[in-house]
Amino acid sequence: MTRYAHVTGWGMYVPERVMTNDDIAAIVDTSDEWIVSRTGISERRIAAKDESTSSLATRAAFRALDKTDLHPHDIDLIIVASATPDHLFPATACLVQDQLGAVNAGAFDLSAACSGFIFGVNMAAQGIRTGAYDNALIIGSETLSRFIDWEDRGTCILFGDGAGAFVLQASEQPGGILSGVMRSDGSGGNLLAIPAGGSRMPATLETVDKKQHSIKMNGREVFRFATKVMAEATREVTAKAGLEVDKLDLIIPHQANRRIIEAAARGLSLPVEKFMINLDRYGNTSSASIPIAVTEAIEGGRIEPGDNLVLVGFGAGLTWGAVALQWVAAEKEVPSVRIQQRRARAVLSHVRSWLRRILRRIEGLIFGARAEGDHPERSRPNRR
Ligand code: ACO
Repeated sequence: MTRYAHVTGWGMYVPERVMTNDDIAAIVDTSDEWIVSRTGISERRIAAKDESTSSLATRAAFRALDKTDLHPHDIDLIIVASATPDHLFPATACLVQDQLGAVNAGAFDLSAACSGFIFGVNMAAQGIRTGAYDNALIIGSETLSRFIDWEDRGTCILFGDGAGAFVLQASEQPGGILSGVMRSDGSGGNLLAIPAGGSRMPATLETVDKKQHSIKMNGREVFRFATKVMAEATREVTAKAGLEVDKLDLIIPHQANRRIIEAAARGLSLPVEKFMINLDRYGNTSSASIPIAVTEAIEGGRIEPGDNLVLVGFGAGLTWGAVALQWVAAEKEVPSVRIQQRRARAVLSHVRSWLRRILRRIEGLIFGARAEGDHPERSRPNRR
């Protein structure tokens, strides 16, 4: 039996707070006219204080699950692609797994910057096709606003916060993810980076003072790289899928800059109308931009069952990649009682998680003390 990996659920969540170009022009020397003409961006969303990458991801994931018949405990695999995780560890994916109550899922983060969602979908689809998993949740989620230098007009105009998610499911019906392309070029790592906060440059007063925990970018070089690889990756993934570029129904590119998308369209000899663009409202949300754009394309009636699509992205690393897919899912009527059940299970899962923490503390008090007494080194008083 041949197995296929289909997108059966999709969802997005963006924070409520809108930051317009005029709001940014009140902070740095720029203007709405400059930002719109050089990038196409008009506004972006900014996470509230009590939001984080995991909380945005969880909301998007619930919305994607709401499109399916699955319960969180049916999920085998959770991948969170993010350049702005909650912590270095634990993985944001584990926090999402806990918040969803996805008790049977293995969960890990994927670090490939704006290409992360594409890489995650490609990896999950391979696992589904080989029979390793049946149901996977892939999320792109970012709180880039926390890593922006709000005095650097070359970067602070570009980025926004948000999350998008896909549910991928095994099926015998042909279609779904048809092919994938994943590429990297670490020689360009310095072109777009958050220099400090890792093992190479741990946090110090000096790194904070020099703003080395915020995004540094060589915009012109990244622009040049992006315009080249977007068309290349689209061509390659389309050929791998046995499709033709001019027969594609829609291309959903990473939403970084309208001029990059226009250059890709020229490179592929396609009209720009073949590309989904919503960066005017969200800016560059890195790994979240493609699933957010797919969700809005579906809601806007731009994707129909049977359509051949390419998702294509690029980002820090440098990384770039694409996925070709045949869209099969039609919007299902999921009974609201089912959705309520899922929310109720999530509440139960919070309670269980809280109880587990208490149990661990109690076990620590009982067995921790005994282990100390049992330890040959520690049980010898006045050893020194
Ligand atoms: N407002 C007004 N003027 C500005 C601004 C601004 N916000 N930013 C730069 N300028 C000025 C520059 O100082 C420069 O002035 P000068 O000529 O006097 O030196 C002039 O505008 C032109 O600067 P460029 O950097 O050449 O501007 P460019 O047209 O390349 O646009 C931009 C800059 C928008 C950053 C563009 O290079 C770009 O989009 N690059 C790609 C960035 C990108 O996609 N990054 C995300 C990658 S995905 C990920 O992994 C996160």
